[in-house]
Amino acid sequence: MPTGNPIVSCVLAAGASTRMKSSRSKLLHEVLGRPVCHWALDQAQWIGDSIVFVVGHQRDEVEKSLKSAQAQRPLKFAHQDKPLGTGHAVQCALAEIESLGGPQASVFIMGGDAFLLERESLEAFAHQHFSSGSRLSLMTSYFEQPGAYGRIIRNSSGQVEAIVEKKDATADQLKIKEVNAGFYLVSLQILKAALQGLSNSNKAGEFYLTDLVSFCRRSGHLVSAFLIQQEECLGINNQMELAQASRVMQTRINAFWMSQGVQMLSPETTWIDSNAQLSADVTLEPGVIIKGESKIFELARIGAYSVVENSDVGPGSILEAYSHLKEARLKRHCHVGPFVRMRPGTVCEDNVHLGNFVETKKARLGRGVKAGHLTYLGDAEIGPESNIGAGTITCNYDGILKHETTIGEKVFIGSNTSLVAPVRVGAGAMVGAGSVITKDVSPGAIAVERAEQREVAGGAERFRSKKQSLKKGI
Ligand code: UD1
Ligand code: CA
Repeated sequence: MPTGNPIVSCVLAAGASTRMKSSRSKLLHEVLGRPVCHWALDQAQWIGDSIVFVVGHQRDEVEKSLKSAQAQRPLKFAHQDKPLGTGHAVQCALAEIESLGGPQASVFIMGGDAFLLERESLEAFAHQHFSSGSRLSLMTSYFEQPGAYGRIIRNSSGQVEAIVEKKDATADQLKIKEVNAGFYLVSLQILKAALQGLSNSNKAGEFYLTDLVSFCRRSGHLVSAFLIQQEECLGINNQMELAQASRVMQTRINAFWMSQGVQMLSPETTWIDSNAQLSADVTLEPGVIIKGESKIFELARIGAYSVVENSDVGPGSILEAYSHLKEARLKRHCHVGPFVRMRPGTVCEDNVHLGNFVETKKARLGRGVKAGHLTYLGDAEIGPESNIGAGTITCNYDGILKHETTIGEKVFIGSNTSLVAPVRVGAGAMVGAGSVITKDVSPGAIAVERAEQREVAGGAERFRSKKQSLKKGI
């Protein structure tokens, strides 16, 4: 930043989140797979050389979450024991701000619940602040229905004079459509002086940070306002706003991936977590949800209403509709689904084909393995080119322990086979349909386990006439 002096970002995150009507702080609610406080940390780091989070309500949980976020800049916490207002929250952080940035620091203040700024807006805001020589700058926006936002009061020459909170506004002030977005840049010296003079004699009985503006004007300092888009100032105070914020992030993330060559048939129904990675020429059908650190490689296609969580879908692989992957890996040119469920530890080598209603767990499926229908493969290793018939089940659990099934390459397992683990089927072997396999099958052998078939000549006709006569009561 052009000042030469450090910028400390101060994130206010100690409020009680009462309007969320939730047992969890709003800072811990997730947007596209990340807690709100992590998004806030990103935004604070775009501009801050160091960051102070003011925490209070559920502070242990919020601190723990933020420590796991791997901040790029020094991150400290200040404590506000009682939420006495946004001004009081900043007061609680002054010592940490000064220790991080020194007495000449500038301070960027934001609410922990408002993380939708565009990076360019924030950088332009800082540029304007420092190049204009303002002592205080704030962001504003225009709303047709300004709701609970603080109203911006300007004087006859257009200068910002004050912010009036909704609770304290007169009927005329309530009609003002320019609102306080809740982002400020201010020199630490001015901030300290202003906070000393704060009073809580207002309708809320709180120490308002917004009174900074009138303090600066009374002291003759220049205050600048910087206009941003409505969606950028959205702060999440309730579940509706959380959903709105998620929508904004969804739109931005989807727009980014489309700019990278991903095709989305219905972007408004597609949800991609912020940590997922996609490649050009991936196609996402409507309703796809990609969670966690999933990777979708070039020319892959994810079918409608599928969920992919912390999984890889390899180049050219196709996932048909309604499939669910969790901690699974599909390599190249696999074709799975519809209605496939892959649970943790599934790895499909190239060209695996799995059809409808196949479930896998801790299963390594070799190149070209086929399981077309209605199958459970758990704790299994299956060699290349093997074919698993419809209805095959690996019986991996004896009620107490889990056991492995190992199938060699080019094995044919007939339909409706139960493989009672631990069990091995050697390479090239065949298993007859309907078998319950409890012993290892040698390579190249045919194993059949079923009662021999009997036949009664003419029995069907005799059976039918007997039943007919019983029905008529003869
Ligand atoms: C605040 C502004 C309002 C602005 C709006 C923009 C004040 C008085 N009002 O209102 O002008 O339009 O933001 O979003 O600043 N917090 C604390 N400690 C407290 C109180 C709040 O840490 O004692 C934190 C909250 O956790 C939250 C942030 O400060 O992250 C903002 O507080 P909130 O109660 O949401 O303020 P708003 O009513 O939205
Ligand atoms: Ca708020």
